[in-house]
Amino acid sequence: MNELPIPPAGPAGACDAPRSAPAGELRAAARAAWAIAEPRAKAAAASAIGEAVAAGAAGALRPDPCAAFDDATRPGRPGAPRLVHPRDVPQRGVGSDEGRAALLHAIAHIEFNAIDLALDAVWRFGGLPEAWYLDWAGVAAEEALHFGLLADELRRRGHAYGDFDAHDGLWAMALRTRGDALARVALVPRLMEARGLDVTPQIQARLASAGDEAGRAILQRILDDEVGHVAIGNRWYAWLCAREGVDPLGGWDALASRHGASSPRPPFNRDARLRAGFTEAELARWA
Ligand SMILES: [Fe+2]
Ligand SMILES: [Fe+2]
Repeated sequence: MNELPIPPAGPAGACDAPRSAPAGELRAAARAAWAIAEPRAKAAAASAIGEAVAAGAAGALRPDPCAAFDDATRPGRPGAPRLVHPRDVPQRGVGSDEGRAALLHAIAHIEFNAIDLALDAVWRFGGLPEAWYLDWAGVAAEEALHFGLLADELRRRGHAYGDFDAHDGLWAMALRTRGDALARVALVPRLMEARGLDVTPQIQARLASAGDEAGRAILQRILDDEVGHVAIGNRWYAWLCAREGVDPLGGWDALASRHGASSPRPPFNRDARLRAGFTEAELARWA
């Protein structure tokens, strides 16, 4: 994660003259990785972007907040998994090898979407401080790592990403919030990724009860990193609320209802949520 301080929130609309991305521009690289359909290739491209960003000036990938892009809505996707309605995704218990593989596949699908969500935050939203782009580029690289860990584990178990049906709920929220960076951070990292903080320990306990230590350990690595992703979401939520004059508490409810999202439901992973920057007032409001 980069340590670049974010500037005080100023007025929106810093880019009066949108332009094409120059060579070696970070957001164009993110847009290209987002468009890759083959999962391992997309993950590799996201990792390479993260490495370039972590290398700083030596990495030679700088963001241009005023670079303009089309309003593409569908990232590159492989032919499988088949995307079905959430109620049609088969639910299997963890008592069988097949059930545990299906569970890890469902999480791999979330991580694959998370690569696209982080890349989307990099390329889609113009006029933001440099730290915004570097933060989400770093997140994209960690999501690529998570996807790779799960795809490798599925392969060890005789499966591959694409073997089980999946649903498109995460991307639906990305589409609904594609015109508004504040709504994006309110409802993707602060709602959907934060939900992951709550449910991951429960999934880990189910895997552990089935003797699946490898699966449990991968989820621990993911949980540790996801606290950081939610923290980045919280940091930018506060910054964007200040810029736009939105009350962080009441404004969240308005954004959620505008975009058809419901409030977080307890039980919460309080420790992880507090480490990720949620306040006691927020948790009490949703309890
Ligand atoms: Fe992740
Ligand atoms: Fe994440």
